[in-house]
Amino acid sequence: MDDPSRIQQKAKKYIPGGFSTESKRTDALFGSEFGPAYFKTAEGAELTDYEGNRYIDFGMALGACTLGYNNPVVAEAIQNELKNGIVTTLSSPLEPILAELIVDMFPSIEQVRFLKTGAEACSAAIRLSRAYTYREYILMSGYFGWHDWSNKDAGVPIATRNLCIEFLFNDSSDFLDKFNNLPEYPAAVILEPVVHEAPKREFLKTIRDICTKCGIVLILDEMKTGARLGPGGAQEYYNFLPDLTVIGKGIAGGMPLAAIGGKKEIMDSWRKLWICSTLAGEALSLAAAIATLKFFKENRVHEHIEKMGTHLYNGFKRIARDFPRITEVSGIPQMTMIRLQRDMPNLKHFEAELFTEVLTSGFILRRNGYNYVSYAHTEKHIRDCLNVLHSAFERISKQT
Ligand SMILES: Cc1ncc(COP(=O)(O)O)c(C=O)c1O
Repeated sequence: MDDPSRIQQKAKKYIPGGFSTESKRTDALFGSEFGPAYFKTAEGAELTDYEGNRYIDFGMALGACTLGYNNPVVAEAIQNELKNGIVTTLSSPLEPILAELIVDMFPSIEQVRFLKTGAEACSAAIRLSRAYTYREYILMSGYFGWHDWSNKDAGVPIATRNLCIEFLFNDSSDFLDKFNNLPEYPAAVILEPVVHEAPKREFLKTIRDICTKCGIVLILDEMKTGARLGPGGAQEYYNFLPDLTVIGKGIAGGMPLAAIGGKKEIMDSWRKLWICSTLAGEALSLAAAIATLKFFKENRVHEHIEKMGTHLYNGFKRIARDFPRITEVSGIPQMTMIRLQRDMPNLKHFEAELFTEVLTSGFILRRNGYNYVSYAHTEKHIRDCLNVLHSAFERISKQT
């Protein structure tokens, strides 16, 4: 294999922007070009980069590796399944086995279909809601991937943009305003259960009540929370039952799999759709998901994640108390964010300084995104990371 600088040169030459995933760009992760672009190995909570540096990682593949990297039980399930083949002209019998497991775990889900990515699963849930209700508008709060229906980027037709209206998370009156201003009832309301903070009970109730009253499909995007907050995801944790749920990321231990599940009555409208994906039922990911979800349940992984996450989150809060002028903390223990105040002078310069110091001390923290603990993180990992972070904030605080 080439040396790291040659790999990076090739990336710049052959891949527009140098990376296929925007959130994995070095500058997006760490605030500057400094920092590792490629991993060599990943095991537990640790990854090594191409120059042989070791890091305790709190990015955990953008939340996809809830059990830690390369969990041996999941790895064995993948290897065993590989002997049978990966995809064929026929479906894998693992599909119904995994579907039943998901139905048993998530309180609102009666039936399941599989796809590969979160963005795809969200798009399918939106199409399904439109087919079920014969309506077109969508109300949304959160991030649902890069597909047209939820984005206002260049390349998205204006007609499509105008059909999807965003409301503020945890703000019932904004939700009601946006709802009342629509020319007709929407097909769906889609939201993430956590956007920088836990959901308020009254906010969830307002949305649930309106959706029930007006026959609107309520979609909960549990991409981040699914195999993280508990075996039944955020819907069980916050006792909030949607009509449809999308899950992905953590469900397959890092293998590419996403699912849409929900009430049978709504899922029946699938027969009106043509959602067909050659590799959706690929067997290695199905085997990985079965192993991951069973491991998650049997080992009560969510309890470890909540405990370790609470250490990290409380540590972030202590830093924010010590350096309130420059620090911003958000999220919940299971997915938490610490960053420099967005309006501070020379933000970019100090961000680069902060995350460079954290990296060179052997930790990956995300500059502007959630940090995730996994089943593989220990109290020592968290204590050591917090010490480094505290010193870095202290140094920056003295310069501002
Ligand atoms: C809540 C949520 N929905 C959807 C997506 C899109 O998932 P994917 O990147 O697998 O397409 C993400 C990705 O971060 C997400 O966090």
